[in-house]
Amino acid sequence: MKYSRIIGTGGYLPETILTNKDLERMVDTSDEWITDRTGIKKRHVAAKDETTCDLAEHAAKAAMQAAGVHANDIDLVIMATTTPNQVFPSTACLLQQRLGIHGCAAFDVQAVCTGFIYALGVADKFIRCGSAKNALVVGSETLSRIVDWTDRGTCVLFGDGAGAVVIQASDTPGILSTHLHADGQYKDLLTVPYGISEGYEEMQQGKAFVKMQGNEVFKMAVNTLGRIVDETLHANQMQKSDVDWLVPHQANIRIIAATAKKLKMSMDHVVVTVQEHGNTSAASVPLALDVAIRDGRIQRGDTLLLEAFGGGFTWGSALIQY
Ligand code: UT7
Repeated sequence: MKYSRIIGTGGYLPETILTNKDLERMVDTSDEWITDRTGIKKRHVAAKDETTCDLAEHAAKAAMQAAGVHANDIDLVIMATTTPNQVFPSTACLLQQRLGIHGCAAFDVQAVCTGFIYALGVADKFIRCGSAKNALVVGSETLSRIVDWTDRGTCVLFGDGAGAVVIQASDTPGILSTHLHADGQYKDLLTVPYGISEGYEEMQQGKAFVKMQGNEVFKMAVNTLGRIVDETLHANQMQKSDVDWLVPHQANIRIIAATAKKLKMSMDHVVVTVQEHGNTSAASVPLALDVAIRDGRIQRGDTLLLEAFGGGFTWGSALIQY
């Protein structure tokens, strides 16, 4: 088996919705500013007792049902998350237990908003080299827990959610290529600067929140995603016109539109969900993919370009023959 193929997708958003109007009552912002600058209209927020693993479980079950696979078929679980339930065990292990999967490799991947693309790239390589046949790949986040709800520069942007895919070994493509990158020199531009081993005291004081130099991140994201489009097409000897659907990370409609422009692609062929749930980090690409597959826009045989950019910086893409 030379390739891996996506055989099922799933998504989940927690029940509670926070609209731009709600945020107007919390910080000095307006629906107009948020809509114009980001495209976001609302975001979902996990309930107090709802965890990243809870959201992941819903999405994973939906993906497994769509794929027609059972717990004992899954032989690899990879979870992309920046907001794990606990320090350890990994959220992948917690999810494995929830789903009744036993014995196979299960681990978390931390690449912030690029996490799902990283996880998909790793799972694809496991399958291509014969180490797995059916991989469950999930992006799940409870970012609301690390957002400073008094900082208007960041709190309007993020939301909670989960997306999942099952990929299976196949003789036909499939995932054509994945491209993963990082450059830690930009670590301070988008960060939660406190954690277990650094800034533990600040973390205990409840100061571990997202800090972002939005404008710098914006510029880097646009330029970097433009470059990765070229890299991905070149690696597959494809033209821009060969791509049927762009499934981008949902951070900001203006970043998405810039990447579509680079591809000379009409927005009619770009999956946009950012208005519905804001930036859900590692969950955003699989959530968008699931929406467009379930509503019938993405059809078998279509060529999809998935891409993401996030803290680290990390960035990546996947070219897929669906
Ligand atoms: O997923 C990982 C990657 N993350 C991203 O891709 C996010 C990238 N960055 C962005 O999407 C944008 O930079 C933002 C949406 C965060 C900000 O948009 P911007 O056009 O870059 O605005 P800005 O930061 O340059 O701020 C413009 C003005 C400022 O006021 P002054 O200094 O011009 O008076 C801000 O204080 O907008 C102000 N502002 C706000 N006003 C109302 C910042 N946040 C808000 C707000 N409501 N929520």
